[in-house]
Amino acid sequence: MQKNIILIGYMGSGKTSVAEKLSKETGIQWYDLDAMIVQKEKRSISDIIRTNGEIYFRKLERATLTALLNKNETCLLSLGGGTPCYGDNLELIHKSGAITIYLKANIDTLTERLFREKSHRPLIAHLQDKAELSDFIRKHLFERGFYYNQANIKITTDNKSPEEIANEILKALLY
Ligand code: S3P
Repeated sequence: MQKNIILIGYMGSGKTSVAEKLSKETGIQWYDLDAMIVQKEKRSISDIIRTNGEIYFRKLERATLTALLNKNETCLLSLGGGTPCYGDNLELIHKSGAITIYLKANIDTLTERLFREKSHRPLIAHLQDKAELSDFIRKHLFERGFYYNQANIKITTDNKSPEEIANEILKALLY
């Protein structure tokens, strides 16, 4: 059975930068789910959600995830923050035999990172200040934690570089 390695975690937890490092270090082919959707739709995730709504985006996300899991190669996937939390996506992922890795970041780290980048993130772009963003993240993470915490491997990422996180993942995968 193929053993894909799948990175999950909240927006801003570093999935994309860690996946890039891991792919460079291991030579394993890396796919980023959001990037694939953007490529296929020829528009940004913000545009897709703004124009067609979140449900439309979640359907695209599911279809792209299914196509990636059906690929006949071992690969590294970085998912969108919401991907494992919708429908039976997480069940589908685990049934495929993939190993899931949760990149865990605390609310302060996420607030700092996401405040700088919120304009590109359709779910949080409307939030005015750090206090509002932090409240949103706290509630959202509480709901999503149920899914994230089912990951096979959990890595705390606060104050760590993508290299350090990638190395911790490699060690965890060897044991
Ligand atoms: C989302 C996270 C985003 C993107 C979309 C929805 C979410 O991906 O898929 O904006 O529901 O958390 P990142 O986690 O890569 O920012």
